[in-house]
Amino acid sequence: MLSERIQIIRSEFDSDISKVSDLKDLENVRIKYLSRNGEISTLFEDLKTATKEEKPLVGKSLNELRNYATTQFNLLKENLETASSSTDEKIDITLPGITKILGSKHLLTQTLDEIKSIFKGLGFSILEGPELESDYNNFEALNFPSDHPARDMQDTFFINKEFLLRTHTSPVQIRVMSSHKPPVRAIMPGRVYRNEAVSSRSYCMFHQVEGLYVDSGVTFAELKGTLVSFAQQFYGEGLNYRFRPSFFPFTEPSAEMDITCYLCHGKGCKVCKQTGWLEILGCGMVDPNVFGFVDYDSEKYTGYAFGMGIERTAMLKYGISDIRVFFENDIRFLKQF
Ligand code: PHE
Repeated sequence: MLSERIQIIRSEFDSDISKVSDLKDLENVRIKYLSRNGEISTLFEDLKTATKEEKPLVGKSLNELRNYATTQFNLLKENLETASSSTDEKIDITLPGITKILGSKHLLTQTLDEIKSIFKGLGFSILEGPELESDYNNFEALNFPSDHPARDMQDTFFINKEFLLRTHTSPVQIRVMSSHKPPVRAIMPGRVYRNEAVSSRSYCMFHQVEGLYVDSGVTFAELKGTLVSFAQQFYGEGLNYRFRPSFFPFTEPSAEMDITCYLCHGKGCKVCKQTGWLEILGCGMVDPNVFGFVDYDSEKYTGYAFGMGIERTAMLKYGISDIRVFFENDIRFLKQF
C-alpha cells in the first residue's frame, strides 16, 4: 500500500516540479512535499503503521524519494536564482559615463610640426640621426679639433673616448653629406644633450632643428632669404630682423639671427635684456674644411647651415619664461596649447 503511494507521490512531484517557472512556484512545491506537514513527511508518519516485514524496504524507498525530491528542489532553486539575479540587474542608462580625457600634442611636437611644414614648403626634406654620436661626427668633422677651445661651448656627456651624447644636431649634417652627393636640402630635428646646470634657461636635454642646403652657387643671400621667409611665417609678418656676425667652427662666415622682441616691440625690456632684439638661431656658410671631411669639392659647391633650439623657439613664440615646464608634464601647462 505504502509503496504504491510512494510511487504516486513521486510522479505527482515530478509533474509539479516540471511546471515550476519561478521561485514562488518552487516554494509551493517545497511546502507541498518537503515541509513538516508535506506529503513526504506524512509518508514517514505512515511508515510507523507498516508491518515489520514491510518497514525496511518501504523505509528505503521513502528515503530515496526524500533524497530525490530534495536534490531536484535544490538544483532547480539554484538555476532559478542565478537566472533571476542576472535579469534583475538593471542598467541605469542615465548615469554619467566615465569621461575619457583626450590627450593632445605636446607643445614641442606642435612647434616642430609647424617648423617642419614651413621648411617643407621651402623645398626641404626631413632627416634624422642618432642621439648617441661619435666624437668624430659631433666635433672632429665639424672642424672642432680635439684641442679646440670651442668644444668648451658645449659641455658634453661622454660615453667613452670615442662616443658621446650629441651636443647639437649638426653631426647629422656630416652623416647626410657623407652618404649623399650634392644637392642636399634637408632639415634634421632631434634631441641633444648638454652637461649644464638645470635652470629656467637651460636644461640637460633639449631639441634642435638643423638645416642644410648644399649645391653649386648657394649664397649667403639665399640663406638670409630662406630664414627671413621662415621667421615671417613662424613668428608673423611685420617683425624686424637682423643678422649679427658670430662664430661656429663649421661655418664661415657665421651669424646669429635676431627678431624684434615680441614683448616690448624693440623698446627694450627684461626679456630682451634691454636690447630690443631676441636671438632665434645660429647660421652660416658651410666651412670648406667641413666639405673636406665629407669629400665634397669645395671649389664646386657651397652651402649654408642653420640651427635652432625648439624649446627656445616655442618660448619666444608663446612667451614662456622657464624651459623646465616642457619636461614636467604638468597638465595645467600642457592643456593651454
Ligand atoms: N650647432 C649650433 C649650436 O648648437 C647651431 C648651428 C647650426 C650654427 C648650424 C650654425 C649652423 O649652437
